[in-house]
Amino acid sequence: MIVSNPNGANSPGRKSANAPYQFEADLSLKRLRPALDAAWERLQVEPADVHEFELRLTEHWRPLFALLMHLYGSRYDFFYHLEQILLTAAEAWAARSPVLREQDHHRINEPDWFSSQKVVGGALYVDLFSENLGKLRQYIGYFKELGLTYLHLMPLFAVRPGDNDGGYAISNYRSVDPRLGTVEDLRLLADELRAAGIVLVLDFVFNHTSEDHQWALQAQAGDPEFQRYYHIYPDREIPDQYERTLREIFPTVRRGNFTWHDGMQQWVWTTFNSFQWDLNYSNPAVFRAMLEEMFFIANTGVDMLRLDAVAFIWKQMGTGCENLPEAHMLIQAFNRLSSIATPGMLFKSEAIVHPDDVVKYIGERECQVSYNPTLMALLWESLATRNVGLLSRSLSHRHQLPPRTAWVNYLRCHDDIGWTFDDADAAAVGINGFDHRNFLNRFYTGQFEGSFARGVPFQENLQTGDMRISGTMASLAGLEQAIEEDSEELKELAIRRMLLLQGITLSIGGIPLLYLGEEWGMLNDYDFVKDPAKAGDTRWIHRPKMQWHYLDELDDHIASGNGSIRSRIFLSLQRLIALRQSLPALAGQQMKLVDLGNPHVLCFVRMHEAHRLIVIANFSEYPQTIAGNLLRTAGLGRFFEDVISGDTIASSEPHEMESYQIMWMQRI
Ligand code: GLC
Ligand code: GLC
Repeated sequence: MIVSNPNGANSPGRKSANAPYQFEADLSLKRLRPALDAAWERLQVEPADVHEFELRLTEHWRPLFALLMHLYGSRYDFFYHLEQILLTAAEAWAARSPVLREQDHHRINEPDWFSSQKVVGGALYVDLFSENLGKLRQYIGYFKELGLTYLHLMPLFAVRPGDNDGGYAISNYRSVDPRLGTVEDLRLLADELRAAGIVLVLDFVFNHTSEDHQWALQAQAGDPEFQRYYHIYPDREIPDQYERTLREIFPTVRRGNFTWHDGMQQWVWTTFNSFQWDLNYSNPAVFRAMLEEMFFIANTGVDMLRLDAVAFIWKQMGTGCENLPEAHMLIQAFNRLSSIATPGMLFKSEAIVHPDDVVKYIGERECQVSYNPTLMALLWESLATRNVGLLSRSLSHRHQLPPRTAWVNYLRCHDDIGWTFDDADAAAVGINGFDHRNFLNRFYTGQFEGSFARGVPFQENLQTGDMRISGTMASLAGLEQAIEEDSEELKELAIRRMLLLQGITLSIGGIPLLYLGEEWGMLNDYDFVKDPAKAGDTRWIHRPKMQWHYLDELDDHIASGNGSIRSRIFLSLQRLIALRQSLPALAGQQMKLVDLGNPHVLCFVRMHEAHRLIVIANFSEYPQTIAGNLLRTAGLGRFFEDVISGDTIASSEPHEMESYQIMWMQRI
């Protein structure tokens, strides 16, 4: 069942995108015609290229107009902004390089290219991985060896001095942080990645700018035009009214969502850190200005834009100011404009919110791909509980997505883990959500007796008891504890836990995304506290610097046949990735759960065209026996090969799975 499709009948975007305003849309375009023609003339665009743009404009104009009309139609200067928006799109197309245009053609002809099982992603911070963009080019071979075809570079644009929230406090979207290189370096890298068959993903941090972005500086200088780019208030009256219904995202940074600015003597809306000023999208000038920044980033050679903090972009008094219908309309408007001017580019949604809300951002006409935070959280949940009940319950009605969209399945990213599962899903399997979150927080901070995890709290809110978890995948899966206790047995279990989870994100349907360092089982980096710009944010514990000497260890290992833990993790993961890429059943998203009647064992069938693969995963450290006959029904066969271990399994007999074993079974 499709839970809630943004293109479905109840979506506000759809309602306004269809019937209404067709006459108004057409007449407006007619009136804009001279300005557009003048732009083609001025920009010296070839007739064939103009024609292409115009075809796409015809396709998308009416729905785009309806969205903008809904968002901004009551503005006294709507038509002015409409014209600016159209011209911004025309300029972006004019500036698009021939290589990108050629790629646009391929993507238009193959719109679900990202559903292939060959697609595997990795994310990294340039400075921590390779120091700078120039040196990153030397590691393209490394990405290829690992099997990556998608690279997400964490924000690399110019930022404020000092703490910059890991690059998310941007002071200029058109220049690269000088410590990392230049825009030219970025373009070069994008070209080389493309030549190597690796797509480039960058963030579009569009909910907020840094307090030292040009617009914010102009606001601080008292310019009323730019003060309207943000949410700025002279006293507490309005902020207090808003606060009644708002959450706190970073409660340890500052209470509430507003920051007093001494210079202006005013309050500024700052959902995240106090130096990140939320943009005011009820002002069409902001939409237009950010559109221009989006196109600039797109034309450096980006294949996919990660839309940061999508939930927060629209505010309305009396609501939680998250996931509002207008937030969807804004993204849909960006999507239409991107489809017109940079049509090969996709959107990825970063909505770390309730699962019912996550899915609303996903659609061909909104974000084609989305992080899957519910799966992420529930995989860790199952690892802690050794029980797949809640995970299965959630997957049973939340995994399916509309056509031409995909999940991005990940275990760790640069952010914390929040337990964003649905309380009703939990209740359905007899779990109290609140208590369970408490348990998970205690488990993953190592406070629960018998826990193998070494996470640390992030944004603990003493008032609500709410907390999120920081830590690397290896430290959360028990490797840190195992090394501390110098126990071979515990090391073995930790490695198995990691491969179990990876084996699922690599097979469940969607794009698997590694946070680089995972391939070596990198541990928590407690040294982040030494850097004053990082000390206040425990997420730095799981953003360690790449340890390149592990690569030498790997070479030694291969030469001597004597494996270290690191090389074993690397080689196992590399092999799993290669296996995934060779299995056509793992393309697309189609997945059917199979109940094997064992609470420790997750089982599902993946199907694509005529191909099938059964995945069975034991979340317990104890061996589990599974009945063979269920496999026969699920997999329609008598004999299967587990392509991971190479073992043959006959469905006529029960089969014993090892501790934390994952099997990918193909009929033979
Ligand atoms: C997103 C980013 C996170 C950042 C926040 C504010 O959630 O992933 O790292 O702190 O947005 O930009
Ligand atoms: C995101 C999420 C939150 C996440 C934070 C970054 O937007 O909503 O869960 O932890 O920002 O830390």
